[in-house]
Amino acid sequence: MIRPLVTHPDSRLRLPSRPVARFDQSLRDLVADMVDTMHDADGIGLAAVQIGVHLQVAVMEVGDRPLRVLVNPQYDALGEPMTLEEGCLSLPGVRERSKTRVDWVRVRAMDLDGNPLEFEAEGLEAACVQHECDHIRGRLYIDHLSAVRRQRLLRRYEAGRRR
Ligand code: NI
Repeated sequence: MIRPLVTHPDSRLRLPSRPVARFDQSLRDLVADMVDTMHDADGIGLAAVQIGVHLQVAVMEVGDRPLRVLVNPQYDALGEPMTLEEGCLSLPGVRERSKTRVDWVRVRAMDLDGNPLEFEAEGLEAACVQHECDHIRGRLYIDHLSAVRRQRLLRRYEAGRRR
């Protein structure tokens, strides 16, 4: 089921998410809704907080990489900063080029059954991991921009919302 997206400046995006403790049908239903919502919005990643659920869950589907379900994810940065144009389904209509993500991470998470999951991600997929882990902590990619660039982007965003 496609769920409504929570968009900036909704304060729910700023609340940290709780770790998942129960790996039950309600978690499976949540993940199914998140995948439907991500696909409907043509996104490459979505965190549960973006549909108003404060649990540490993210889904990602980047290019030819497999669909990933990340429960309670963490990562170690292994790579170097890369330049990237970043956007977010919670700030529709704007994107910004920046050098705030590293190009290689090791991810540790759990799968839908609570089994440990570990993999390495590179490039855009690595950036997506960092972006979704930010959401889980109540952060947005605009927080990493300089104040001047953030204000400029938010002016464009607000202008787009009024249209
Ligand atoms: Ni996002």
